[in-house]
Amino acid sequence: MTDKIKTILNAQIQEELYSANLYLALAGRLEAWNLKGMANWMHIQEQEERNHALGFFYFLLNRGEEPVLSAIAQPDLSAATDASAVFALSLNHEQHISACIHAIYEAAKEEKDYALESFIRWYIDEQVEEEANATEIKEKLKLIGGTGPSLYMLDQELGARAYVAFIPGKTVA
Ligand SMILES: [Fe+2]
Ligand SMILES: [Fe+2]
Repeated sequence: MTDKIKTILNAQIQEELYSANLYLALAGRLEAWNLKGMANWMHIQEQEERNHALGFFYFLLNRGEEPVLSAIAQPDLSAATDASAVFALSLNHEQHISACIHAIYEAAKEEKDYALESFIRWYIDEQVEEEANATEIKEKLKLIGGTGPSLYMLDQELGARAYVAFIPGKTVA
């Protein structure tokens, strides 16, 4: 594995762990607003992000490299002023992560790292889903006005989301 690939993969572990912390912080804010269903959705998101980080962690190890963890920045919640803004922030963040994942794919091609080129495809597909999910909730909130009984109903709906354990590249999570 080249140094360039090592650096970009360790940086992505950091990005995914930041994502986990961001979603945990958003879960806290939503819970504070009594939107417990949305908080549940964010907690599941948090766990998935941690698994995304572990995917890169084990990929490095499987390739004979020790993962290097570095400091995680404090989540920036300044834009998260109401439920709609929370999901707009999530969407913006996922768009940023998609750009990171695409850069990894580009690097894999440049460095002719075929194993990484194959591994990263799962993340490319996952990002399509991540952006679609955040967009759907953001649009639903726009549709219902984001307050009162309709907000309560959407909160109930998001409370039904269940966590499924899965680490990319690992058969058993
Ligand atoms: Fe992720
Ligand atoms: Fe994500």
